[in-house]
Amino acid sequence: MSYRGKVVLLGDPGVGKTSLLARFVDGIFRTEYKQTIGANFLIKEIDLKNIVEKLKFDIETKKKIKEKGFMIFLWDIGGQKDKLFVSEYYFLDAVGAMVVFNIDNKKTFDNMDFWISKMKELSGNIPFIIVGNKIDLKREVSSEELAQKAKKYGVKFFETSAKLNESVNEAFEYLSTQILNNLK
Ligand code: GTP
Repeated sequence: MSYRGKVVLLGDPGVGKTSLLARFVDGIFRTEYKQTIGANFLIKEIDLKNIVEKLKFDIETKKKIKEKGFMIFLWDIGGQKDKLFVSEYYFLDAVGAMVVFNIDNKKTFDNMDFWISKMKELSGNIPFIIVGNKIDLKREVSSEELAQKAKKYGVKFFETSAKLNESVNEAFEYLSTQILNNLK
């Protein structure tokens, strides 16, 4: 039985949650926008060869993790706040989260506070990262503002482009490392 855990993607509609997943899991990018209703459900087994050495465990435990594997179940929640009552269930038992906004849209940046407080309320104190997606577009949020927000929450941030495949793997791999390190 492999280590396994549920990871939720959070953030406003259209910020690119589904695209980041599609890029990471299938290596593809689609330009048309199909709004997520409810939640997409994907299973991705993280390639541990890349991350196991970054873990704080002893050699024996690392060996065990390598042998057993680590399965992460990625849940992509539709970003409409008014539908949240439907998806509150999806926060339950999450072991980690990726909070996403669009670097070209300040409002999605400000709204991250809403998603983070919802996550803390419903999933507890789980490891998470902040992702500023669409860095290929014109910036409305500076790296400094982003760094400040990440510092406020004490988490790491990534600037990604699902379109150009920039820093997508790094973000997911870092989050996986945090989750594994947090396992009891
Ligand atoms: P909901 O399912 O409604 O919550 O949206 P979402 O956050 O899953 O967004 P989605 O992945 O569906 O992407 C929305 C639109 O943004 C699509 O048209 C994507 O092609 C586009 N998009 C996503 N990532 C990027 C990116 O890195 N750069 C650019 N230029 N466009 C992107």
